[in-house]
Amino acid sequence: MKPKIILDCDPGHDDAIAIMMAARMTEVLGITTVSGNAPLDLTTDNALLLTELVGLEVEVHAGAEKPLLLPPRHAEEAHGKTGLDGPRRPDVVRSATSLDAVHFIIETIRSIENVWLVSIGPLTNIALAVQQAPDIVKRVAGISIMGGSAGPGNVTPTAEFNVWADPHAAAIVFNAGFEKFMMAGLNVTHQFGIDEQTISDLRDLGNPVAVFAADLFEFYLSSYQKRTHGQRVPLHDPCAVLAITHPEIFQFEFRNVCVETEGTHTRGMTVIDERGWGDRPVNCEVEYAIDRDRGMEIFLETMRTYTAK
Ligand code: RIB
Ligand code: CA
Repeated sequence: MKPKIILDCDPGHDDAIAIMMAARMTEVLGITTVSGNAPLDLTTDNALLLTELVGLEVEVHAGAEKPLLLPPRHAEEAHGKTGLDGPRRPDVVRSATSLDAVHFIIETIRSIENVWLVSIGPLTNIALAVQQAPDIVKRVAGISIMGGSAGPGNVTPTAEFNVWADPHAAAIVFNAGFEKFMMAGLNVTHQFGIDEQTISDLRDLGNPVAVFAADLFEFYLSSYQKRTHGQRVPLHDPCAVLAITHPEIFQFEFRNVCVETEGTHTRGMTVIDERGWGDRPVNCEVEYAIDRDRGMEIFLETMRTYTAK
């Protein structure tokens, strides 16, 4: 039985891979989009393009075009002007089902049991949903996010992009009372990097989705190497999907996590209590390690299922 998920995203190169994997490893009930890597219109267009590419017949609902309190921030340096630079863009016929992602999230969770919330962009839509409908927190099977870090940040020395872009939303979500909350932060996603070999492996598969992913990675890896000294570019967002489908490849630790929403140098930091004797209640299962080889096997096995048309 595949886990039922709502995927909230801001495509984005790594979001694209998460969609490709979720489409085969989970039952995607719907996709919601949020301003993040690119403005909302582009992340929504990209989500529509990707669902058409992988043949995923699900609704795409556009959500928040800006954070709760802060101005919109994007990551053009990592994902390009379109948010999905690299591949030639195919024509897309689909359009968003609605501009009310929050309503879709609430109504879907209220009408279907054991739905997983998977959030791989800024948490604005999720925060709005739990504010408008607190009852959904106890109805979901759990929430799995890519966000934060149990180590250094990326946008700042302490903050990871998804949490940094909307720290007020992230604080609401971490404090909402989810009983099952899994967090894939940069400390673990940086253990799950792709490189030239991955691109070559995808091209060897030869099907249209694998080739599209290879074209995405050509851009994503090159832009990352120009900005950092990394040889491998982290495949962040698929970790949030794998934590649901293959939890055995991760090492989890029960932690209290809270979000700094003010700090001059630390706004957007996920403050993780690792003291062991802290008086703060556990609210999250933080991922500290991933079996990269096994994760890459699962990734390539999934991409292999997209047989040539
Ligand atoms: O910091 C990495 C996260 O920010 C990923 O979700 C990436 O897609 C961007 O949204
Ligand atoms: Ca993302």
